[in-house]
Order: sequence, then structure tokens, then C-alpha cells
Amino acid sequence: MAAAGAPLIELREVTKRFASFLAVDKLSFSVGEGEIVALLGRTGAGKSTVLNLVMGSIAPDSGSISVAGCDPSRQFKQLRGRIAVSFQTDRLLPWRTAVENAELGLLILNVPKDEARRRALAWLDRVKLRGAEHKYVHELSGGMRQRVSLARALAVDPSIIFLDESFSQLDHATARALRTDFKRIAAEFGKTCLFVTHRIEDAIEIADRALILTQGARIALVEHVTAATRADPAATAAMHERIAQVLGHEDADTLADAAE
Ligand SMILES: Nc1ncnc2c1ncn2[C@@H]1O[C@H](COP(=O)(O)OP(=O)(O)O)[C@@H](O)[C@H]1O
Ligand SMILES: [Mg+2]
Repeated sequence: MAAAGAPLIELREVTKRFASFLAVDKLSFSVGEGEIVALLGRTGAGKSTVLNLVMGSIAPDSGSISVAGCDPSRQFKQLRGRIAVSFQTDRLLPWRTAVENAELGLLILNVPKDEARRRALAWLDRVKLRGAEHKYVHELSGGMRQRVSLARALAVDPSIIFLDESFSQLDHATARALRTDFKRIAAEFGKTCLFVTHRIEDAIEIADRALILTQGARIALVEHVTAATRADPAATAAMHERIAQVLGHEDADTLADAAE
């Protein structure tokens, strides 16, 4: 586990209902500065709802959420430029090139055009997209699109980055390469990261800590992942198995990943 600093994200007894459906049931957890935490669970567990709460796009019914000392659903102006998100469906604009997509967040923050371009190009280089800067979205592979999306999120230099299933739609080799690069970049630039996934291998390869969520975003298991775990195939397999037990074996996708 990384030496976690003061909590940058903190949830206390957070509850969220959709009509009578309890999507998040008294969830409490925190993410320290520089830490990478995975929310791992099957479809419907409530992962995206938790992310929406932390990003401030929805407000909790009860409980409290603090992100960099702010209430994200009320103090979103203070959080401008400090948080960024990269989604699974990369949400790139097809009529813009890779670099024009990557600089979008900077332009929204009123960074001068020349500087936005310079920073976007630097980030495309860091996510290994040199040579693809001026390609349109349809000319990029799925993995490359996800890299543009990551560059766009990182370009605003946020202290906190949220990822929602950023690696889940890619084939295993492409996903692994992207996970490795993301982990290296997050460590190098000291980013705090909360990411959501339904794939066990995503969590084990990237996270310092994985919270395994069952329905109602209830934390059923917490796993601390270290470099030693990752380097040890037996320890990794045992962790896979513990998590798979909690998630349930009937999920074919999770099972296929666990069997790798
Ligand atoms: N806006 C909404 N209105 C009603 N139900 C919702 C809404 N958003 C999510 N839900 C329900 O909450 C549960 C958790 O959804 P979600 O957070 O998307 O799970 P996950 O991301 O883990 O797949 C699901 O049963 C989903 O149908
Ligand atoms: Mg989701």
C-alpha cells in the first residue's frame, strides 16, 4: 500500500435512494492523498452511483461527502480544475482530432490556446500517442481512444482523478498495457485516484486498496494490494479467488478474468 496522506476523499454513512430502491446503504470510506482505490463490484452494485456522488453530480440523501475539503454537490466551483474524470465510453468528440480532444478541458478552464495545445501534446506523448496527435477519433483504436480520454483528464493537472470502467471494454492485452501506463503516470505525478471496475484484474494490477462492493454499495471485503502481491503469482491468484468468492462465480466475465 502506498503511504497514504491525509484523506482527500471521505464518505461517512452515505445513503442514496432512487425512489424506494436503496442504491447506496450507509457507505463509509476514505482515499488518502496519492492513493489509488478501486471500487470493485458486479453490475448494479452501485459503483457508478458512488462515483456520481463523489463527483457531485448527485447529492446523498444522508451522510457526508468531502472531496479536497469541499462538499462536491454544493461547492463545485471550488473543485473546478482539481478533479477530472475519464469514462469507459470515452466521450470524445468525433469532429475533433486527438489533440483537439485532449486540450478540451484546458480550453474550458480558459487556459490560453497556445499553452493548452502545448500541454495537450505533452500529455499525449506521456500516454504514448506520439504520432497520433492529429488523427480523428474514428482513425484511433479503442485503446488509443481511451488514452486520449486519459490525456484529456490528466491535462488539466487535477489532484484527483476518477475513472469509470476505463479499462473494461478493451481486450486483455490492450487493457493491461493501459493499466501499466496509468499506474506509472499516477505514481509519477502523485495523483489520487478512485476508480470503478467490475474486473478483478483491473483492481489487483492498479489499486493500493480494493473495496469489494455488493448490492447497495456495501463493502463486503477490503484487499490491500502491494508490489509484493503483484510479483507473487500465488498471492495474486489467492487474492483473485477471495474476491471471486465474494462477487459470486456466476458472473461469466469476472470468472473469465479471474481464470487468467
Ligand atoms: N437514476 C437512477 N434512477 C433509478 N435507479 C437507478 C439510477 N441510477 C442507478 N440506479 C440503480 O441503482 C443500482 C446501482 O446502479 P449503478 O450505480 O449504475 O451500479 P454499477 O455502476 O455498479 O453497475 C442499479 O440497480 C440501478 O438500476
Ligand atoms: Mg457502472
